[in-house]
Amino acid sequence: MDAVRIYGGNCLSGQTKIQGSKNASLPILAATLLIDGTCEIVNCPDISDVYHMLRLLESLGCRVCRRADVIRIDTCGVAECDMPADSVGVMRSSIMLLGALLARMGEVAMEYPGGCVIGKRPIDLHLQALRRMGVEITEGPEEFCARAWRLHGAVHELPFVSVGVTENLILAAVLAEGETVIHPAAREPEIQALCEFLVSAGGKISGVGTDRLVIRGVKKLYPVRFCVPADRIVAGTWLAACLCAGGRVFLEDAPCGQMESVLACAEKLGGRLSPSPEGLLVEGRACKGLKKDLVTAVYPGFPTDLQSLFMAAIAFSGQDGRIVETVFENRFRIVPELLKMGADIRVQGNCACIRGNRPLCNTIVEAKELRGGAALVVAALAAEGTGIVTNRHYIDRGYEDITRSLRDLGAEIELA
Ligand code: EPZ
Repeated sequence: MDAVRIYGGNCLSGQTKIQGSKNASLPILAATLLIDGTCEIVNCPDISDVYHMLRLLESLGCRVCRRADVIRIDTCGVAECDMPADSVGVMRSSIMLLGALLARMGEVAMEYPGGCVIGKRPIDLHLQALRRMGVEITEGPEEFCARAWRLHGAVHELPFVSVGVTENLILAAVLAEGETVIHPAAREPEIQALCEFLVSAGGKISGVGTDRLVIRGVKKLYPVRFCVPADRIVAGTWLAACLCAGGRVFLEDAPCGQMESVLACAEKLGGRLSPSPEGLLVEGRACKGLKKDLVTAVYPGFPTDLQSLFMAAIAFSGQDGRIVETVFENRFRIVPELLKMGADIRVQGNCACIRGNRPLCNTIVEAKELRGGAALVVAALAAEGTGIVTNRHYIDRGYEDITRSLRDLGAEIELA
């Protein structure tokens, strides 16, 4: 079955190694298209979104081979600019290929990328910004065609911060004629990793880590070997598991320096944390109330991707809490499933009020998207009885093997 079975109600104890970052890997894999030759990307997570990205690269003519945790990508044979709809539609990050393909091939025809239940996820900002760099875009009902015989730099004053738009513009600008400014640029660690990859290949990017990036186009980039950083959202997921179920866990390689807002919130909830260069030790469980709302925000604010996970932690804290989601318009899809488990959560617009004073009991619940699905598994660890989370394929998009990682931490969990 496409599900996970969890025997809830036990504390966690153990340690697990944090996988490579999904949201750093995907734009870096797309960026290999800018480089003629063979790049080696190390520590890419073995997840379905990476699989789909590699299929897309192969459909464009790349030769891809994966040995252990090294993926070699030879782009010399790239000749196509038409991507297979089945892979484009299945994930949002196919839009990341737009900027890279325009830079390499000068034209792209592709379906509109997949959205998901967390929001409409339009690509209007992507297309507007690329037009400013000399791209001609014809939009049809199902797909669009973009052409640029020579991309040129532009100054982008964006209406708001967008991770994907920042990534696409970096990929379009790094080989373009002249200088490109992106402001406000997203500052997520995944953007910094992309910039580090491109600079190591010969790109000229300044302002990395700030909200103003300046990219000076170069003639050529050179093949590199690059190691993807650990996944801060996966580390935050296992942190939330301990806040829900209680216990003592060590998260090896957790990128604590990229998780300040998450660690601060976990401590306010009552978790006892010991960050170190080797990783993160988590003890205890959520037992205190947040004095202020938990408000999601662009980096370095609290990440929207951990909002559902911390909703589960608040639900088990015995205290009330309020979450405000400011990034996506529909990211409370987990609520009806938590209500089935006995939670008391009321949603009004982009706010969710959680009453933490109710015991939760396991039952059959349905994952509807990646992070909400992981949050249902984490909640089931702490709830009484045996639980089933269906639609595991959503979770497999971003977690290498959620049952293996949580079994490392002492959970009683299995594929169902
Ligand atoms: C990236 O999505 C991540 N995905 C998301 O992670 C993450 O939640 C999000 O950034 C915010 O941090 C990947 O990196 C593959 P945005 P992205 O553009 O780039 C609106 C996960 O679970 N917008 O920063 O799509 C958009 O609708 C995933 O790993 C437009 O209106 O996010 C949203 O409301 C989920 N028009 C807001 O901007 C556009 O053209 C921020 O989205 C583009 C975006």
